[in-house]
Amino acid sequence: MGRFDGKVAVVTGAAQGIGAATARRLASEGATVAVVDLKEPQEGRAYACDVSDHAAVREVFDRIAADLGGLHILVNNAGITRDNLLYKMPKADWDSVLEVNLTSVFNCVQAAQRHMVAQRHGKIVSLSSRSALGNRGQANYAAAKAGIQALTSTLAIELGPYGINVNAVAPGYIATAMTAATAERVGASPAEHQAMAAERTPLGRVGSPEEVASVIAFLASEDASYVSGQTLYINGGAR
Ligand SMILES: NC(=O)c1ccc[n+]([C@@H]2O[C@H](COP(=O)([O-])OP(=O)(O)OC[C@H]3O[C@@H](n4cnc5c(N)ncnc54)[C@H](O)[C@@H]3O)[C@@H](O)[C@H]2O)c1
Repeated sequence: MGRFDGKVAVVTGAAQGIGAATARRLASEGATVAVVDLKEPQEGRAYACDVSDHAAVREVFDRIAADLGGLHILVNNAGITRDNLLYKMPKADWDSVLEVNLTSVFNCVQAAQRHMVAQRHGKIVSLSSRSALGNRGQANYAAAKAGIQALTSTLAIELGPYGINVNAVAPGYIATAMTAATAERVGASPAEHQAMAAERTPLGRVGSPEEVASVIAFLASEDASYVSGQTLYINGGAR
C-alpha cells in the first residue's frame, strides 16, 4: 500500500528537474500525478499551462480534477531565474521572476483550494529557496522565494480550518538544468560550479532532485499531518 493511494497530485514545472523527480516519487507511492508545464511533456498525464496565467491555471486545474477525479496534493514547483545585479536588472526580469515564482503560487493555490476546501482535505507544498535569505545577483528571485515563505505561513492560517496543510521547502544547491545555467552564466562548467558549492556545504556535496522530492513527499503525506505553515531547508547543513 502506498502513502498516496487514491490521491490526485498536481506538480507544476514537472517536465524536468526537481518537479519531474517529485512527480516520479509521488507516482511511485500510488498517486495519480498531473504534470503541469509550459510545454506538454511526452509521458504521463501532461497538461500544458503557463502557471503565471491566472485564467489558464483555473481552467487547467478544473480540467485535471474532472479528468482524474479530484485534486488532493499541489506542489508549486515551477520557477525561473533571471539573475543580475540590481543596478542593471531590467524591470522585465524583475516582473517575470515575481510572476512565475510567486504570483503563480497565488494562482495555483486559489484554483486548487476550491477543490480542497470542498473535500475538507488537501496538501500544498511550494518551492522556496535558500536564496530567500539573500543572494548576490538574485534580488528578484530572493524576493519571490521569501514571498513564498510568507504566503505559506498565511495560507496555513486561512486554510487550516478546512483540513489543508500548507508548507514550503527551501533547497540549497541542487544539480539541475537551473544550476547548470547559472554555472554557464559565470563561466564555469556544471562540475566546477558544483564543486565550489560543495566546498561551502557541511555535507560536502550538492543535492539531487530526488533528495528534495523525498522531503516534498513527506510534507504531502499523512506522516506530516500536524505540520503546517513551515519552511523546511534542504541544504546539506549550509547556513
Ligand atoms: N536547482 C536548485 O538548486 C534549486 C534551489 C532552490 C530552489 N529551487 C526551485 O525549485 C524549483 C525547480 O527547480 P529546478 O532546478 O528543477 O528547475 P528547472 O529549470 O530544471 O525546471 C523548472 C521547470 O519549470 C517549468 N516552468 C518554468 N516557467 C514555467 C511557467 N511559467 N509555467 C509552467 N512551467 C514553467 C520549466 O519548463 C521547467 O520544466 C524552482 O521553483 C526553483 O526555483 C531550485
